[in-house]
Amino acid sequence: MSGAGTNLQALLVACGDPAYGAQVVAVGADRDGIDGLRRAADERVPTFIERVADHPDRDAWDAALTDKVAAYAPDLVVLAGFMKLAGPLFLRRFAGRTVNTHPALSPSFPGMHGPRDALAYGVKITGATLFVVDEGVDSGPIVAQVAVPVAAGDDEHSLHERIKVGEHQMLVESVGRMVREGFTLDDRSVRFGT
Ligand code: GRF
Repeated sequence: MSGAGTNLQALLVACGDPAYGAQVVAVGADRDGIDGLRRAADERVPTFIERVADHPDRDAWDAALTDKVAAYAPDLVVLAGFMKLAGPLFLRRFAGRTVNTHPALSPSFPGMHGPRDALAYGVKITGATLFVVDEGVDSGPIVAQVAVPVAAGDDEHSLHERIKVGEHQMLVESVGRMVREGFTLDDRSVRFGT
């Protein structure tokens, strides 16, 4: 997590209901002083921070982040609003069980500016994508997608905020199913159930 943490908040609220069947065991961030960490602390979820700048290079950061996450033995790793590319060690360690959300309908508009790029292209429908993280940028196998119409007069902020409403619902529903039902990954196909 890297910022506001509204995706995290949606998960924390869902996990407050025992019937949801999943728990957030820890929340990690790549910076301090962000709302997401406060949201986690409010729910008494353990938090940790691993900053790239505190390491001699990106590989050392990758190793430290991998160790920190592994210490909590998560079944699933959710990169909720995490604005960095996970390193190769991290991806190997949590391969096939790390998910991320992207505020666009993949494979369109990968990268940091999904809503801005969708607006600039003039699409009438965009949305959000939950995917299993691979070594590419927003390129992994798709778990779920939600469509969101672009409104006349939208700017980047208003569009992103509307996308986030659908993104939160998609994340909560899909993460819950992944944990409760399990899932299988076959090349690019992700299916709930085992
Ligand atoms: C989300 O839309 C996410 O898909 C994108 O940035 C936003 C992060 O929001 N990468 P938040 O930190 O979860 O509020």
